Amino acid sequence: MHIAIDGPSGAGKSTVAKALAREMNCIYLDTGAMYRTVGLLATRLGVDTHDDKALAKMLKNAKIEVKLLPEGQHMLLNGEDVEGLIRNETIAMAASDVAVCPSVRKILVDIQRAIAEENDVVMDGRDIGTHVLPNAEYKFFVTASPEVRAKRRYDQLIKNGQEADYEQVLTDVKNRDYQDTHRAESPLQVAEDAVEVNTDGLTIEEEVSLLMAMTGQLLG
Ligand code: DC
Repeated sequence: MHIAIDGPSGAGKSTVAKALAREMNCIYLDTGAMYRTVGLLATRLGVDTHDDKALAKMLKNAKIEVKLLPEGQHMLLNGEDVEGLIRNETIAMAASDVAVCPSVRKILVDIQRAIAEENDVVMDGRDIGTHVLPNAEYKFFVTASPEVRAKRRYDQLIKNGQEADYEQVLTDVKNRDYQDTHRAESPLQVAEDAVEVNTDGLTIEEEVSLLMAMTGQLLG
């Protein structure tokens, strides 16, 4: 069983994907975390996040692993658990940058497909339904307006006790949307056979309920 959930940043994909994975007894794979880990490594080493050749060379000497734990996924970078270091706006943008590079995508997509070959999986990302798992049984494209997604992100930052400026968060969301949808390699787009869900006006809880109901219907 393979379920693909794609959509722009902040659409609530991961919350929905986790809930679905629990319900369907699948593992959950957050592919964005993999691009974030590559972004973190490049940032640490001072490698240009736009330089495909330099990134490919960097990755030859690096070990990117996904540890699948019952409580969720942890990314390992050369054996170090970096889960706590990849969830910030700087690394998000670095992830979006490295995700433009074909060599990076090839390496990460191979890992994603290998995991899917061995497991029932709910996978979230940008190119899962279109490229990574074109034969997934169920495909969702979850979206919401940039303003709604920025507000959710802003609320989350404030809740976590971090400083945040709504206008800046909105600009970041729009920049990342632009880059993710305009790159040549596997850009963010709706798969032909995906069910599109617009979550404007829904809380995350309502969004989870909606997708669960839709999956239930799809599963008959
Ligand atoms: O889902 P996220 O916000 O953690 O993803 C971070 C960046 O990684 C995102 O801006 C684009 C890139 N990405 C991608 O290109 N393909 C994926 N399957 C997942 C993420």
